[in-house]
Amino acid sequence: MSSNRTTFATKLGVIAAAVGSAVGLGNIWRFPYEAGQSGGGAFLLIYLICVAVLGIPLIISEFLIGRTSHSNVGGAFKKLAPGSHWGIMGYMSVLACFLILSFYTVIAGWTIEYVYQAVMNGFSGKSTVELTQAFTDFSTDTYSPLFWLTLFLLANYLIIAGGVKNGIEKASNIMMPFLFVILIVFCVRSLFLPGASEGMSFLFKPDFSKVNSSVLLSAVGQAFFSLSLGMGCLITYGSYFSKETKLGKTAVTVAVLDTLVAIMAGIMIFPAVFTYGIEPSQGPSLVFITLPNVFQQMPGAYIWSILFFVLLATAALTSTVSMFEVITAFVHEEYKISRKKATALSILVCFVFGVVCSLSIGPWKEYTLFGMNIFDLFDYVSANILLPLGGLLVSLFVGYRLDKKITYMQLTNDESYKVWYYKPLLFIVRYFAPIAIVLIFLSGIGFFGK
Ligand code: TRP
Repeated sequence: MSSNRTTFATKLGVIAAAVGSAVGLGNIWRFPYEAGQSGGGAFLLIYLICVAVLGIPLIISEFLIGRTSHSNVGGAFKKLAPGSHWGIMGYMSVLACFLILSFYTVIAGWTIEYVYQAVMNGFSGKSTVELTQAFTDFSTDTYSPLFWLTLFLLANYLIIAGGVKNGIEKASNIMMPFLFVILIVFCVRSLFLPGASEGMSFLFKPDFSKVNSSVLLSAVGQAFFSLSLGMGCLITYGSYFSKETKLGKTAVTVAVLDTLVAIMAGIMIFPAVFTYGIEPSQGPSLVFITLPNVFQQMPGAYIWSILFFVLLATAALTSTVSMFEVITAFVHEEYKISRKKATALSILVCFVFGVVCSLSIGPWKEYTLFGMNIFDLFDYVSANILLPLGGLLVSLFVGYRLDKKITYMQLTNDESYKVWYYKPLLFIVRYFAPIAIVLIFLSGIGFFGK
């Protein structure tokens, strides 16, 4: 059965797709701010350590579960641990994907509206107050965000319905190099601005006085989200790897490129922000208010604005595709529904979730649960509960349930080359990762206080 299952066609395609999943809104708007606020170079150092000792081993673990089973996330656990409860991982991952997708696609829709605004020169001559008002009016509106959401989901449909090789791999091969080129152009531009040194020191200057346990934990959380860990994305992509793909090398490449993009995003943003004397802020307001404002004051505002929002939309698209693929593969293989139908179904369900999320910021904002609107609630539950739980279970699975021989054969491609990291990897998935993740989880639910 595994022999006729599709695989990615080329090595480059594997990297493009996996990096495409990892590089997303998390890199461009979350990382730079976290780094700047939480001690600059000190945060960066901690982040790098987290990626190395926790991120990379977990990426390898997900890849090897996928490639051993040649299955979607549900089928993978059922095959590798028949007759156990591990199959629940499938449902949990699909649920987490839906929750993340439902708010992620809404924001992705906003980025397309902003591409449109940029093309129409809609930011020109607007003051900060006007830009803020325009953003609030748009994001709380009933229909226009839904229009862009629909368009964005359609793009996802076209890519995923095309299949793994002709859809996901081809699209990633085109979009990822394009994304890197835009980022490099932005970085170079940024480094020549008068505020470059101030921006760079906000991002890089280590300030160890800001480091405390909550910074440590937020670095771990950021690494998780950014590397697409904990909800079956990398298991699903790993199931399309061929026998020749080297898991360790691929995991390191993905982690390095993802981190590079996060750092480049910081280099692109902060020098510009400081040059024009604007307070750096986080999340939606950084991207949708501060940056259009910054671009207005730069020569060539028109082009920079378009490039930036195209960059964001592209980064978001390759990430959502990877999440949709988790659901599509699951529905297609577990329920024997054709791939096209499975794609349409997952996109339709996500559309319903997306509409709810979108309206929850606007007309439905009075409806709250635990003091959060639905949008924030989905964000909170997925990032703080489901992802850490998924990562914990993956590490326990590889550490204690999976036959060690399988792990060894997967790492060495059936002993065709030697690796030094087999034992360290086992140590990490058995002891280090579970303990670290439990700590993130406890801090995420406020166990240690705020
Ligand atoms: N890593 C992506 C980002 O940084 C988002 C993402 C894609 C993700 N797939 C995921 C996050 C799986 C968690 C789990 O934007």
